[in-house]
Amino acid sequence: MNHEQAYQVCINPDCRKQFGLEQIVFNCPDCGALLDVEYCWDRVAVPKALDFFEHRWSTKGLRAEARLDFSGIWRFRELLPFAPNDSIVTIGEGRTLLEENDLLAREIGMKPGRLFLQYEGLNPSGSFKDNGMTAAFTLARMVGRKRIACASTGNTSASMAMFAHKTDPPMQGIVFIGSGKIAYGKLSQALDYGALTLQIEGDFDACLRRVRQVADKLGIYLMNSVNPFRLEGQKAIMYRVLEARGWEVPDWIVVPGGNLGNCSAFGKAFTELKELGLIKRIPRLAVIVATGANTLYELFENKNLRWNGGRYDQSKVDNLYASMDASHYLPHTIASAIEISRPVNLPKSIRALDIMNGLVREVSDEEILEYKALIGRYGFGCEPASAATVAGLHRLMEEQIISPDEQVVCILTGHELKDPDATVKYHTGIDMKKITPPPAVTPTGRCSNPPKKVADDLEAICAALGETLPE
Ligand code: F0G
Repeated sequence: MNHEQAYQVCINPDCRKQFGLEQIVFNCPDCGALLDVEYCWDRVAVPKALDFFEHRWSTKGLRAEARLDFSGIWRFRELLPFAPNDSIVTIGEGRTLLEENDLLAREIGMKPGRLFLQYEGLNPSGSFKDNGMTAAFTLARMVGRKRIACASTGNTSASMAMFAHKTDPPMQGIVFIGSGKIAYGKLSQALDYGALTLQIEGDFDACLRRVRQVADKLGIYLMNSVNPFRLEGQKAIMYRVLEARGWEVPDWIVVPGGNLGNCSAFGKAFTELKELGLIKRIPRLAVIVATGANTLYELFENKNLRWNGGRYDQSKVDNLYASMDASHYLPHTIASAIEISRPVNLPKSIRALDIMNGLVREVSDEEILEYKALIGRYGFGCEPASAATVAGLHRLMEEQIISPDEQVVCILTGHELKDPDATVKYHTGIDMKKITPPPAVTPTGRCSNPPKKVADDLEAICAALGETLPE
């Protein structure tokens, strides 16, 4: 594999400007659109059939190739061929499970053998983010970046911080979190893995705007899903779903929507598999958002925003965002992972909905918590955002859009223990976040790594990073 067969390209059909892998740009400088990673497939040794990948599943050990085969992402390396094997950064991510769950199926009125749960919480950092991080870290290593940063509702930061301290030499991970918007399970990971954690005023959307600015000014590599290499890794979730089903394509993929990277990656995965002749049909996509953070639902279902071959109606997006600004709208949901009102991958998500004949539904916090408890009762459990999938599936069955004998895969994106407060509150009524916090104390551990509070201000943030704002 060599990286001359891969390049980046603007997704705007009227632009299509190309960039080399070494060019760090996340929005096209000419037209502002997002970028895709694309491949010259005729230069790649793509297997003739998907069952080629099966022989790698059982491989373990320390040999370089065995480490790649062990990864649930790089086992499929011919399908994301942008990196030479010796550049790949892997920590054994993506060894996750697809479970056929008849008990839950019965509970929601589906026939046996029809409902499948894809447990991405079984990743090393406990969420699906590791799928994308391994790919983005690989690119960061290829281009020699030493510092990386992200804004996060928690899981991206946990995953990034874990990968950062696993590289040799370790990279410096910088995490931006909003005030009071992160589940403690996730915050504890970023601190433990040694990331420099900046807690700024504002929500996720404000953090993302700010980290993009800071990363750009200080030459720090951005690890949010606006980074197209993240999405390359996340395609592998779909490869594993197919693999676990003996390469049989399901009828539906149901996924929660936040920054809309995952659903976008799934659309790309299926487009490529179809183009390569490795599958015959593409499943349908249901993206489930929270009622309190429902931008995609508003735009796709209520305002009829469609991809339209890439020439979508940007004014619908602009108008919605202007009305959010005018009313000082802030997203709010118990599923803090998807509490996002300006999803960066919006254009790619409507492309995925187009390719996968998809739809969008919103579910309330009450539904999320009820279905989370059911998933916990009959399965391995998940965090609130993940449970939106089964809540959404139930809604779609009530609407008779999904029938009880269709094959449905729900992507459970994060581990149950990521957000124990939500679970404890549901089962006991006790709100751990409202219990009076103890007086501030100074941590004394040798490795204590408390978050730094900093104003949402460029100069203050540069100072917190030990730098002055470049001219
Ligand atoms: N589920 C979980 C558990 C998540 O952490 C996220 C996103 C999503 C779903 C939504 O996925 O953004 O691809 O649509 N969490 C991000 C974070 C935003 O910062 O950890 P998406």
